[in-house]
Amino acid sequence: MLKLGILGLGEGRSTMSAALQSPKWELKVVCDRNLDMCKHRAKEFDFHQYTTEYSDLLNDPELDVIAIYTPDHLHAEHIKQALLAGKHVVCTKPLLNDLSQAKELLEVSAKAGKKLFVGQSSRFFEPMKRQRADYEDGQIGDLVTIEAYYHADHRWFLEKPWALEKSFRWLYGGLSHPVDLVRWYMPDIEEVMGYGMLSPNGVKGGLKNEDTMHFIFKAKDGRIARVSGVYTGPVQPVLRDSEMSCILRGTEGCSQGDYMDLRYAITTNTGEEKVITFEHKLKHYFRFEGKSHHAGEYQNYLEYFADCIAQDKTAYPDLKEGIGTIALLNAMEKSLETGAPVKVADILQQHDLAELQGAAV
Ligand SMILES: NC(=O)c1ccc[n+]([C@@H]2O[C@H](COP(=O)([O-])OP(=O)(O)OC[C@H]3O[C@@H](n4cnc5c(N)ncnc54)[C@H](O)[C@@H]3O)[C@@H](O)[C@H]2O)c1
Repeated sequence: MLKLGILGLGEGRSTMSAALQSPKWELKVVCDRNLDMCKHRAKEFDFHQYTTEYSDLLNDPELDVIAIYTPDHLHAEHIKQALLAGKHVVCTKPLLNDLSQAKELLEVSAKAGKKLFVGQSSRFFEPMKRQRADYEDGQIGDLVTIEAYYHADHRWFLEKPWALEKSFRWLYGGLSHPVDLVRWYMPDIEEVMGYGMLSPNGVKGGLKNEDTMHFIFKAKDGRIARVSGVYTGPVQPVLRDSEMSCILRGTEGCSQGDYMDLRYAITTNTGEEKVITFEHKLKHYFRFEGKSHHAGEYQNYLEYFADCIAQDKTAYPDLKEGIGTIALLNAMEKSLETGAPVKVADILQQHDLAELQGAAV
């Protein structure tokens, strides 16, 4: 069994649950610089090996993997330290919130010879897993276009002090989900354009950057896709709209993975129409109160990562694919600033990352 340490125990709570329930992992130690948070989680899970010092995880020779769930702007530094300490790394989304340390991370990771896996939870959610399997099975024919979005009433998130800093952007924190879903199917996005604004509720809540955004992508082969995100206002009932959705339109069929209600719908290449909900999996995905946690997805991705480590295979999204997604998000940011289309290749070149052009699964 692989030995895991977790850094950051807000969202890291779901990872604690995932690791404690997984037969493939032994949770060895957890870390949060806030002692009260450590004590709170220790009580919640009856798991008492905690520390407030990240260096205790880095210097623990028995740890195989460190899982990182600190605020977005700290990921780059925490990943670097873990790789330098000789650990494999899982880092939650967004992998980074700018590209300033991307080149350095590629170099550190190549030297360390350790794996970095991006915890893109939505890929590991039941409807999205089923959608991918049906797509690979040819049930919608060739993919023509994608529409993906993530809209949520995240006004509660504004209680976190780092959400009100200039460095926090919903573009990275929220849209990294639908953008990753698009790149899962259409890795080579060449150009993007979009508009964004800070909504009246966002202004009132103290947000500094756009919380309302719509974008159009063009892939190298000419196909197009669209993503959007709205984060500081009410959403429709989930029966009608699922907060996060991914729609694939193909030459012979069409499918939709919905986050809320664990719902999946497809019209197949034989004309069959199916709407599936995964009632028997509800307890795996939603194991605490409410539906705003991700323990089931994290357990799925931790087990996938454990298998990749055991078989010495690349776990996707890896560092290269993850940085490619951040470069696309960076191009989207530039398009918001300039009001003009932006080429991802230009962003990669500006950051000395031209080697990553087209890098994906
Ligand atoms: N679906 C998903 O994959 C998903 C969902 C929610 C959040 N997240 C990600 O998880 C990350 C954390 O978000 P959150 O909502 O838990 O934030 P949070 O502020 O609630 O929790 C972050 C924790 O990290 C701790 N921390 C900060 N700096 C530290 C340091 N240097 N050493 C040790 N501990 C430190 C803080 O004390 C805090 O408890 C973000 O990157 C967010 O985008 C991912």
